[in-house]
Amino acid sequence: MTDRQADAEETLRIREMTIDDFSEVFHIGEEVFTAEYSQSLYRTWDEYEITTLFNSDNELCLVAEAGGKILGFSLGTTVTKHNSPWKYGYLVWLGVRSNIQQGGVGSGLFKEIKRRMKEQGVRMIMIDTAADNEPAIRFFKKQGFGDIQEHVYMSLNLTRKTKKKHPKKS
Ligand SMILES: CC(C)(COP(=O)(O)OP(=O)(O)OC[C@H]1O[C@@H](n2cnc3c(N)ncnc32)[C@H](O)[C@@H]1OP(=O)(O)O)[C@@H](O)C(=O)NCCC(=O)NCCS
Repeated sequence: MTDRQADAEETLRIREMTIDDFSEVFHIGEEVFTAEYSQSLYRTWDEYEITTLFNSDNELCLVAEAGGKILGFSLGTTVTKHNSPWKYGYLVWLGVRSNIQQGGVGSGLFKEIKRRMKEQGVRMIMIDTAADNEPAIRFFKKQGFGDIQEHVYMSLNLTRKTKKKHPKKS
């Protein structure tokens, strides 16, 4: 175990997020979910992510705290599909302060949200992240995730003038 891991594990407490934590969680998210992280706009970190998930699933909105400071958070929800009897867990956001990453905080948060999801009857947990987010992919593989499925995002810029195509004369 590294010193960093020992420091984090010694005093780490995983608890439910409260409204008093909103701003700290928001700022940690701003630090880790940068524009580079979500270039495609399909995942944008903003304050509504926190309030919406807190309103719908406050039991799955957790923070990791040590010495009165929040080190990271996990925000999740559950999903039921009309054609499936299974209940799914969706871990929407998981973020750990940059200076404490790789110290076991993310694993602690995941362990607790997984426990809570299981208690709620979840049979499968889903996550999504950018294909080039190697640290996160490694992290989730270590937590037992597999069966990676690729998804394509496309965009169309409506401010660019497009050339009209004329049918070829024969
Ligand atoms: C992904 C993230 C939540 C992991 O949290 P963490 O506290 O750093 O993770 P842990 O210390 O518990 O790491 C557990 C394992 O994950 C893997 N891992 C974590 N960070 C890694 C990194 N930067 N590079 C490679 N592997 C990494 C390792 O296998 C590690 O095990 P090890 O320490 O025994 O090698 C954190 O890096 C983060 O906040 N990243 C930015 C936001 C993000 O991408 N979130 C995920 C999508 S929402």
